[in-house]
Amino acid sequence: MAGGLFITFEGIDGSGKSTQARLLAEALRGNGHEVVLTREPGGSPGAEEIRRLVLEGEPERWSPETEILLFTAARRDHLEKTIQPALAAGRVVVCDRFADSTRVYQGITRGDLRATVDRLHELMIGIEPDLTFIIDMDPATGLSRALGRKGPEERFEGFGEEMQARMRRGFLELAAEFPDRCVVIDGNRPPEAVAADVLAAARARLS
Ligand code: ADP
Ligand code: TYD
Repeated sequence: MAGGLFITFEGIDGSGKSTQARLLAEALRGNGHEVVLTREPGGSPGAEEIRRLVLEGEPERWSPETEILLFTAARRDHLEKTIQPALAAGRVVVCDRFADSTRVYQGITRGDLRATVDRLHELMIGIEPDLTFIIDMDPATGLSRALGRKGPEERFEGFGEEMQARMRRGFLELAAEFPDRCVVIDGNRPPEAVAADVLAAARARLS
């Protein structure tokens, strides 16, 4: 994977990840980098099909264990078809969510399944991002932003504000666990202010 750089955005629903991933990709392209902007679950045709299975329907549709398998299957396809080829070609990959989301959403929110998530990750995925932005956000604001979007993808958003607060803590704990690659960014500011901090940290890592 020589030459490429793998950047991920993480955080609770509605924290501004998609907005910031897009702004970072645009800024880096403006600086002459070849950038692949992608997302999870999804990012390859097969993984986008799995996305519909996991994000639509009743909240209790899948057990946490089945979800871990589905998200990891989607990630494996995304890795093979999109991420690895781009990194091998020396591109910058900017990805909206990756394995840290599974560590938090499936790992802690419905019982302690973090060890299972980690074992499957080691077996099937095996890589970590070079740089992870954790967009930190007040759970109530994040939830109202996410619900404001409406649409069929609301299996997780139905989980409510208390769950959002647990997930926020989970992401901050991951930042402390992986300090070399994680940068926590205050998302409770206008998008341009958040983007400026993100770009500064990405440039520092690229140089
Ligand atoms: P996520 O991908 O984390 O769910 P989005 O980037 O889709 O978040 O943002 C959710 C909603 O909040 C969108 O309507 C977006 O326009 C808006 N938004 C994003 N960033 C900000 C911000 N810094 N301040 C206010 N609203 C924002
Ligand atoms: P996403 O489209 O990024 O939603 P949002 O823009 O609202 O943040 O992700 C969809 C949902 O999928 C989100 O609620 C988090 C969940 N998810 C997991 O539970 N596990 C995972 O491994 C991933 C990648 C996402």
